[in-house]
Amino acid sequence: MLHRAGHTARSLLSTVTSAALSTDYPTLHQHSIESSDEFWNQIATERIHWREPYQTISDCNFKAGKVNWFTGGKLNVSENLLDRHLVEHSDKAAILWERDEPGQHEIVTYKALHEMTCRIANVLNSHGVSKGDRVGVYLPMCPTAAAVMLACARIGAIHNVVFAGFSAEALGKRLEQSEAKVAFTADRAIRGGKLIPLKSIMDEAVKMAPSVQKVFVMDRTGAVELTSSKDVSLESEMAGASSECAPVVLDSEDPLFMLYTSGSTGAPKGLVHTQAGYLTYAGYTHQQIFDYKPDDVYACVADVGWITGHSYVVYGPLSNTATTVMFESTPNYPDPGRYWETVERLKINQFYGAPTAVRLLMKSSDSYVTKYDRSSLRTLGTVGEPINPKAWQWYFDVVGEGRCPVVDTWWQTETGGIMIAPRPGLDPNNLTNLKPGAAMRPFYGVDIALMSPDTKTRIEGNDVAGHLCIAQPTPGLARTVYGDHERYIKTYFADYPGYYFSGDGGYRDEDGHIWLTGRVDDVMNVSGHRLGTAEVEGVLVDHVAVAESAVVPRPHEIKGEGIFAYVILKESVDIDHDVLKKEMSDMISTRIGKFAKPEAIVICPNLPKTRSGKIMRRILTKLAAGEKDGFGDVSTCSDPSIVETLMPLVDAVI
Ligand code: WTA
Repeated sequence: MLHRAGHTARSLLSTVTSAALSTDYPTLHQHSIESSDEFWNQIATERIHWREPYQTISDCNFKAGKVNWFTGGKLNVSENLLDRHLVEHSDKAAILWERDEPGQHEIVTYKALHEMTCRIANVLNSHGVSKGDRVGVYLPMCPTAAAVMLACARIGAIHNVVFAGFSAEALGKRLEQSEAKVAFTADRAIRGGKLIPLKSIMDEAVKMAPSVQKVFVMDRTGAVELTSSKDVSLESEMAGASSECAPVVLDSEDPLFMLYTSGSTGAPKGLVHTQAGYLTYAGYTHQQIFDYKPDDVYACVADVGWITGHSYVVYGPLSNTATTVMFESTPNYPDPGRYWETVERLKINQFYGAPTAVRLLMKSSDSYVTKYDRSSLRTLGTVGEPINPKAWQWYFDVVGEGRCPVVDTWWQTETGGIMIAPRPGLDPNNLTNLKPGAAMRPFYGVDIALMSPDTKTRIEGNDVAGHLCIAQPTPGLARTVYGDHERYIKTYFADYPGYYFSGDGGYRDEDGHIWLTGRVDDVMNVSGHRLGTAEVEGVLVDHVAVAESAVVPRPHEIKGEGIFAYVILKESVDIDHDVLKKEMSDMISTRIGKFAKPEAIVICPNLPKTRSGKIMRRILTKLAAGEKDGFGDVSTCSDPSIVETLMPLVDAVI
C-alpha cells in the first residue's frame, strides 16, 4: 500500500510524544495500528532533521518481504545525532565512558564526539572509503567505537560491528562475507582486568578476508604494534585529519549498517538496517520505553557488538540528546557491586541490562547493592532473554527499592528496536500492575499476532499461545539479509504469508498481556547471546573423529541456556574420550568464540531418529535437562530403546 505524506495528523497524536506514561495506551495503540502511516508520519516528521522531505510514508508488502519507509526522503543520521545538538548542547556529555579500571570514567561532550566522528570520517575518506563500502569494526566498548559507527554514517559507509568476543575465524568470515574494505581494531581490549589481544585476532582474521585494504588500530592499552603494511595508527591519522567533515546526504533507504546474527540454519546472516526508519524507531522507543527526560543519565550496559548496543547505547539515546553511558567492564569486576557503584557515581536514571547479569549478581550478598546510593534510578530494563520471576523480583525489590518499574523488553536484531515492553501503558502509581517475567504490551505500531503452526491462521482472543509474528511493518525492521534477499524472505516471511515470523513462541494471558515462551526454532540463547545449534554442530563434525553431532540447549542457572552436545564418533576412532572432548571444545572456541563452549559433550553410540533419519531433538533436549520421563511418543523413533541407552551417559556428565 502506498500512502502519500503530508496528512494532517489527528489531534490525538499530539499527545504521542509525551505519552510514555500515558494511561491512554489502548486508544493510542489502536490508532497506531489502524492508521499506521499517519502515526509514523508524525513521529518521523517531529524527530528527524530532513534534508529533503519524503514522498511516501510506507511502501511495504510482507507477502513479498518488502519493507520501505519514508522513501524519497534525504537525511544524514550522524547529522541528526550530533550536528543538530551542537547549537544548544555542545558542552553536554554525550558519552560517559565507564572504563574497565574501577572508579574511572571519562566525559565526551557532543562537541568532542562530533569532532572525533568528523576526524574519523575524514580518515576513512582519505583511504578511499565512501558511500556503500563496508567497514568492519572489532573494538572495545569505548567512545571511539561509537565515533567509528557515526563516522561511517556520516559518509554513507556501512558499518559491520563484530562483538569482540568472537574468535579470529568468526571475525574473518564476517569480514570476508561483507567484503569489508577496511577494518578497525585496538591493540588490546581490557575487560574485568583481563587483556584480550584484539589486534592479533584481527591479524588472523584479515588473512581470511582479502578485501580488507587497511586496518586502523586504536591505542587502548599502549601496546600498538603495526605489523603489516595494511596497519595504520588510528590516533596518528586522526591527528592529521580535519575536525570538520560535511555529512553526505543519503536516501532514507540507503543502508546504515549490517549486523550478523545467528539463525536456525546455515551460517550467520548479516541483517541490513537502513537510515530513516531505523533512526525513528530506535529514538522513539528509547524515549518512550525508558521514560527518558532531558538531562537524564541513561545507561545500557550492552556491548556495541550486539543490536542492543547499536540501538540503545548509540543511535537511540544520541538521537534524544541523551547522556549515554558506555560500560567497558563486567558486572562483577572488581566485585559484584560494580554496576551500582557506577550508578551512584554517574547518577544514572535508567539502567538497562541482561537477565544473565541479574542472575549472577543476586547470588552475592545484597550489601553489594545496598551500600551504594541508587536514588537516581527511575527505570530498570532487561533484554535479550526471558527473565525468570525470581530474578525480576530481586532486580525490582533490591536494586530498584520497589520504586522503579522493570521494563522487560522483547525484540530482536531484525526488529531494530523494542517491540514489546510494559511501557507505554504502565501506570506509574501502580507498580503492582507489572507482571514479573512478562514483556506485556506491544509498542505503538506493533501488531502482535500469535499464529497456529497447524492451521497457519491467527489465534484471536486471550489465554492463547502460538508462534509469535508481527502483522504489520514497523519502520525499524531490517530490510534484507546482506547479499541474500531470498534468504530474508524465506527466513522471515515464508512460514506465515503476510506476517513476519520471529522464531519465538508467545502466550497472551487473560488480561491480553504477552509472555515470551522461548524459541520455537533451533536457536539457543546463551547469556543473551544468540547461537544456532547448526553453527556448533558444523564445527563438531569438522573434527576428524566425529561422524555426527546434535546440539541442544540445556537450562543453566546463570546463563539461561548452556550448550549440550551429543556426538557419535567414527567407528575406527580409538582415542581417550577426555582428550577428544577437550579438542572439540577448543575447536568451538577457535571457530566461534569462548562463549560458545559447550557445558558438556556426550559421546554416544547413536541418536534418536525418525525412520526417515531426522534427529528427534525434542528427546535430546529433555534428556539434557535431566528429565527422566515424559518423552512422549517414541514409537516414531527408529530405535525406541535409545532413551535408555542415552540416559546414563547424560547423567554421567551433568
Ligand atoms: C530473545 C536481542 C524473552 C528472543 C535484542 C529473541 C527475549 C532473541 C527477550 C533475539 C525478552 C530477547 N524475553 N526473550 N525480553 N529479548 N529475547 O537478536 O528469543 O540478539 O528472538 O536481539 O532473544 O536476540 P537478538
